[in-house]
Amino acid sequence: MPRPHFTLTVVTSHDGFIARHPGDSPAAWASAEEQALFFADVEAADWGILGRHTHEVADRPDRRRIVFSGAAGGWRRPTQLWLDPANLTPSDLPERVDTVQPLERGVILGGTRVHDWFLTHGAIDRVHLSVEPVAFGAGLPLFSDQRGPAETVLEALGFLCRSDRRLNAAGTRHSVWVPRGA
Ligand SMILES: NC(=O)c1ccc[n+]([C@@H]2O[C@H](COP(=O)([O-])OP(=O)(O)OC[C@H]3O[C@@H](n4cnc5c(N)ncnc54)[C@H](OP(=O)(O)O)[C@@H]3O)[C@@H](O)[C@H]2O)c1
Repeated sequence: MPRPHFTLTVVTSHDGFIARHPGDSPAAWASAEEQALFFADVEAADWGILGRHTHEVADRPDRRRIVFSGAAGGWRRPTQLWLDPANLTPSDLPERVDTVQPLERGVILGGTRVHDWFLTHGAIDRVHLSVEPVAFGAGLPLFSDQRGPAETVLEALGFLCRSDRRLNAAGTRHSVWVPRGA
């Protein structure tokens, strides 16, 4: 099976954090405009891939999800597969879920270690980044070893900004990034 196309969709604070603490849902601080784009990305994907915390913060039994957990566990719901990704690569995911829904377009839903896993495997094909005009000062980073605004982090990791626009009067920005050379 060919490797799926993976889009990372994420919202950060102005200073580059995805959450103030584990359990802090973006729904509590992100703008309505960002949330609409986020849900459009989820709808457009065959599967969402996310860590256990993010799954538990926003449990949606109706969604097709691959939930990463060291505890693994197999199919916990008809459309939700729990996997330990330790000995897997992104190319291994389609065969695990094919009987339910072919995985051609995956959306990476975080959190930090899930972002790390896809980055390590060179499997982030596109980034949909929203940045809210708030500063947290501390919290969970976009990637484990990175600090600072998300745009700076993505540039340092070799991503190229394809488009950037303002989403609302408050100053939320939305940008699209691809790996340099893609
Ligand atoms: N702003 C945003 O766009 C955004 C995006 C995503 C999440 N969030 C927020 O971020 C917070 C959660 O993020 P988080 O970084 O704490 O947690 P997370 O990645 O959602 O969950 C962490 C857990 O997932 C499992 N896991 C993740 N990656 C793994 C890997 N490579 N190998 C094995 N297990 C793995 C582990 O579960 P076990 O402990 O079961 O082994 C780990 O403890 C929530 O508040 C959520 O709302 C925000």
